[in-house]
Amino acid sequence: MEELIQIKDMYKIYNPGQDEVRALDGVDLIICEGEYVAIIGQSGSGKSTLMNMLGCLDVPTSGEYYLHRQNVAQLKDNELAHIRNKEIGFIFQGFNLIANLDAMGNVELPLTYRGIGKSTRQKIARQALYTVGLEKRMSHRPSEMSGGQQQRVAVARAIAAKPPVILADEPTGNLDTKTTKEIMTILKELNDAGRTIIVITHDDEIAEQADRVIRLQDGKIMEDYTNQ
Ligand SMILES: Nc1ncnc2c1ncn2[C@@H]1O[C@H](COP(=O)(O)OP(=O)(O)OP(=O)(O)O)[C@@H](O)[C@H]1O
Ligand SMILES: [Mg+2]
Repeated sequence: MEELIQIKDMYKIYNPGQDEVRALDGVDLIICEGEYVAIIGQSGSGKSTLMNMLGCLDVPTSGEYYLHRQNVAQLKDNELAHIRNKEIGFIFQGFNLIANLDAMGNVELPLTYRGIGKSTRQKIARQALYTVGLEKRMSHRPSEMSGGQQQRVAVARAIAAKPPVILADEPTGNLDTKTTKEIMTILKELNDAGRTIIVITHDDEIAEQADRVIRLQDGKIMEDYTNQ
């Protein structure tokens, strides 16, 4: 498999000095294209910090991050924004939808930032909403949808531009069991279709559905194993 992500000796240290927190404490990690990885660990273990690095939302104190073999660890904000938009689809626990845009509008928004014209944008957005089974909710705003439907809009937004990496931080944290299953099924299908999926969770049952599990503790990788 082709190497997608390589992290070398990465540190993220908050408040350097006496009260320093080593949110990432020497992390080495390789993720290949098409993998389905769960990153698990207790509260404060460094999961979100690692997600922020993987997603180019923040830069490490030290260490290297190669995405498609390009070192992105110390790029400037605007360069990171460009890579983020091209390479990564984000799914957050709180959905992060725009309240006054309907489902179509929310899915279209990141495509606008990519400079895609209106008719192509609508075609892509419609296709993504179909994929998550929301063809009947395209003109509903977030307040007019259930939590699970809102999360599916967020999934559609993440997958619309077909980014190589989908990064999900506690994607089912606010959902009931049934809706959690639906969202996890969608992620599995996306992985079967070739996308690389990285799910951050504190839930062992969610982690069991991934092919590979990485356990963080105190900013270090304690375990890295393949699920049967
Ligand atoms: N901006 C910051 N300044 C100082 N310390 C921080 C900052 N952000 C995170 N930390 C600390 O870094 C450590 C890792 O935080 P992180 O948010 O990555 O944990 P997490 O595994 O995502 O936890 P949770 O499951 O609660 O979301 C924690 O000890 C946290 O207190
Ligand atoms: Mg977190």
